[in-house]
Amino acid sequence: MTIKHEVPSYLTQHGIGPWGDYLEQIDRVTPYLGNLARWVETMKRPKRILVVDVPIERDDGTIAHFEGYRVQHNTSRGPGKGGVRFHQDVTLSEVMALSAWMTVKNAAVNVPYGGAKGGIRVDPKTLSQGELQRMTRRYTSEINIIIGPNKDIPAPDVNTNEQIMAWMMDTYSMNQGSTASGVVTGKPISLGGSLGRREATGRGVFVVGCEAAAKRGLNIHGAKVAVQGFGNVGGIAARLFSEAGAKVVAVQDHISTVVRSSGLDVAALQAHVNETGSVAGFKGGEEISDRAQFWAVDCDILVPAALEQQITVENASSIRAKIILEGANGPTSPAADDILHEKGVLVVPDVIANAGGVTVSYFEWVQDFSSFFWTEDEINLRLTRIMREAFTAVWQLAEEKKVSLRTAAFIVACTRVLQAREMRGLYP
Ligand SMILES: NC(=O)c1ccc[n+]([C@@H]2O[C@H](COP(=O)([O-])OP(=O)(O)OC[C@H]3O[C@@H](n4cnc5c(N)ncnc54)[C@H](O)[C@@H]3O)[C@@H](O)[C@H]2O)c1
Repeated sequence: MTIKHEVPSYLTQHGIGPWGDYLEQIDRVTPYLGNLARWVETMKRPKRILVVDVPIERDDGTIAHFEGYRVQHNTSRGPGKGGVRFHQDVTLSEVMALSAWMTVKNAAVNVPYGGAKGGIRVDPKTLSQGELQRMTRRYTSEINIIIGPNKDIPAPDVNTNEQIMAWMMDTYSMNQGSTASGVVTGKPISLGGSLGRREATGRGVFVVGCEAAAKRGLNIHGAKVAVQGFGNVGGIAARLFSEAGAKVVAVQDHISTVVRSSGLDVAALQAHVNETGSVAGFKGGEEISDRAQFWAVDCDILVPAALEQQITVENASSIRAKIILEGANGPTSPAADDILHEKGVLVVPDVIANAGGVTVSYFEWVQDFSSFFWTEDEINLRLTRIMREAFTAVWQLAEEKKVSLRTAAFIVACTRVLQAREMRGLYP
């Protein structure tokens, strides 16, 4: 894709990647920003980018080097906040886009953060536990200069989990000389983590899914759901839909796709994935070899919950779902968005649909600062309220302006970020 924007020298116009999708989304919202549009360039430039070399000694005595990033897109409304991804295909463009979507998401649900994201270009499955720990600790030391409980707070993302967060918290604390539990969220409960955090993103997807279904007159009980990605987000969302009486008819992960029109046994599938690392080989469904067929599965609700740039012009027209809930960040390209809009598919955008994770991360951070911990019921109630309110506000604005939910969410978010920018003024 070639885009019309000026891009920084470290990206090329050709093959600009997810950052190009994000820039196009900003273009679509700019006409709705009124006088604040004069500040919109702020949204198109990450505030700070740190690229680090992460060397480790491997178990066999050789030295390996990995490329790491931390991008702080915007801190006008508060400290940076966003996950850390370990994946062999991580690029700077991707981390920039993910950090920007965090800015938009945090403002859309009105939690007091800016946006940030980090990543290491590595397939963690190729590392031993010891190597994984050394890489995580070295990466944390390298980005130590820009993170902190009041500066930028990492969290889990693809291929990172509570254990990685525990090592990051420990490394940062060792460097500080005191335990700083608020430096990361998504920690184990025993280290200041929050009840409900692990399930929060999937739960948020489910909550907004119920709201969207109600708007479309779709009964969740008996609804057919297809989920791409069966990790933290997709696995929990599938479980909650299934517990509510929906039929999870298809699940795709990085290796395989399993389908069952009468509904998969999600608990059994989860047990299989816990044991084998993939949905491949699951006996309770039929495996399909053509991965592209997943998008054409007969379903009411489609939940992309894996990686970005999955729903494209190539597959958008084959989608049969009435509602798409973006559990993943950036799964739909702007051109695919247009096709879905034409077809009357309701797309609940990532910046609302998957905001449950950062919302409970915010609760975790608040609990860490006050050293006073809430019950799971309190957390889920507060999460549900925030998700519903954010969905309703965006729905109403979309109706009023006759725009998509994505553009409406971007209007709400960009207005909040740019108002903060304007009120603060430019320093010096
Ligand atoms: N974890 C969170 O709290 C959180 C919050 C907001 C958004 N997200 C987003 O949700 C998405 C998933 O994150 P997660 O935390 O569940 O990650 P995860 O590592 O727990 O799971 C990722 C899942 O995606 C699958 N996958 C990977 N590549 C794939 C491919 N090419 N095709 C199909 N499936 C593939 C994996 O097999 C796995 O099942 C990401 O886009 C992430 O940015 C996560």
